[in-house]
Amino acid sequence: MTDSGATVLPGLAEIAEVGRDTVRGGYSRHLLDGAERDLRDWFVERAERLGLDVEHDRNGNTWAWWGAPGPDAFVTGSHLDSVPGGGAFDGPLGVVSALDAVARLQQEGHRPSRPTAIAVFAEEEGSRFGVACLGSRLLSGAISPERALALTDVDGTSLEAVLTSAGIDPSAVGPDPDRLAGIGTFVELHVEQGRGLVDLGSPVALASSILGHGRWRFRFSGQGNHAGATLMTDRRDPVVAAAAAIAAVPGIARAAADVRATVGRLRAVPGGTNVIASTAEFWLDARAGEDTVTRTVVGAIVAAAEDAATANGCALEVTEESWSSRVDFPEGPRAAIDRVLEGDVPVLPTGAGHDAGVLSTHVPSAMLFVRNPTGVSHAPEEWSDADDCAAGVEALTTVMRAST
Ligand code: GLV
Ligand code: MN
Ligand code: MN
Repeated sequence: MTDSGATVLPGLAEIAEVGRDTVRGGYSRHLLDGAERDLRDWFVERAERLGLDVEHDRNGNTWAWWGAPGPDAFVTGSHLDSVPGGGAFDGPLGVVSALDAVARLQQEGHRPSRPTAIAVFAEEEGSRFGVACLGSRLLSGAISPERALALTDVDGTSLEAVLTSAGIDPSAVGPDPDRLAGIGTFVELHVEQGRGLVDLGSPVALASSILGHGRWRFRFSGQGNHAGATLMTDRRDPVVAAAAAIAAVPGIARAAADVRATVGRLRAVPGGTNVIASTAEFWLDARAGEDTVTRTVVGAIVAAAEDAATANGCALEVTEESWSSRVDFPEGPRAAIDRVLEGDVPVLPTGAGHDAGVLSTHVPSAMLFVRNPTGVSHAPEEWSDADDCAAGVEALTTVMRAST
């Protein structure tokens, strides 16, 4: 590895201390918490320094316009929120690269021939309210405002309350068809979240597809009780049921082709060492190349969880928190980018979700990936070398020069 991208992208260096998580490592920047608000302010300041006009839409997303907003806009950008303990590049790389591309084009004297904007989408990771890509889902109508506003964070605070306290009008949240119809092309640059580019020996790739994916919450209810006084034969322990269900997940996932199934979050309530829990919850993230396969695998995991609940005298409630169908990015924008980048850009699928995937149902969308030598993402080891970040900015600048 060479120097980090922060040496060539000043924006990454400027935000390097914002939202550092001293407990988990990496960064925790969650929708409208202190760190994410600081990043919003930072973005506004950086965009205004470039002379861009900043606009906050009805759904918590931020737009920085180079010239007047209008139809057939070229939009690039990504997100600034993170998973808990996430890396420095997932989201911010696309935003700082977009700012740098605009700065470079301005220095060249480029004047865009069509409306051009940088967008920062809200709650892309779904780390606070559970539903990934919440800002782009609301904008595009992929989630209803009623359902979104009722979502609660880990403290039980609703999205409605959080928006209100941030000065965002909850009654205005919801589909924004005019804004959506005004986007002619969306291009999201993103750090690669696997080893595809390492194996290909290339700094930059274009995206072909995104695995279909969803999130489900499994809630086991038993009988809270005393850890010392309750005989092993008398227990209805939801933690034991949840553990048995979780243990079944890898085997079920491995039995089907191209499936990823993860339990990365679990909670026992009330959570005392000397307390048999009354409820235990875990969240399943499941993804596959074919949507029917994802559904079948989740069905098998639910069946295993029901068996585990019954065996432990517990009740089970399963809630689908989000669903995103497989995305195949359209050929047109990808071919156009490949042409301006002179045709030697590899094309890679990804298992990670993105706002570009949500938008691609409505808007011609494409993605540029930048090599990640560790192949690790959603963890502090996520990385992008300075030279590769520079190659990403160069590619995005070339695309913007040719497209705007
Ligand atoms: C977001 O990065 C996701 O794929 O969950
Ligand atoms: Mn992510
Ligand atoms: Mn991301």
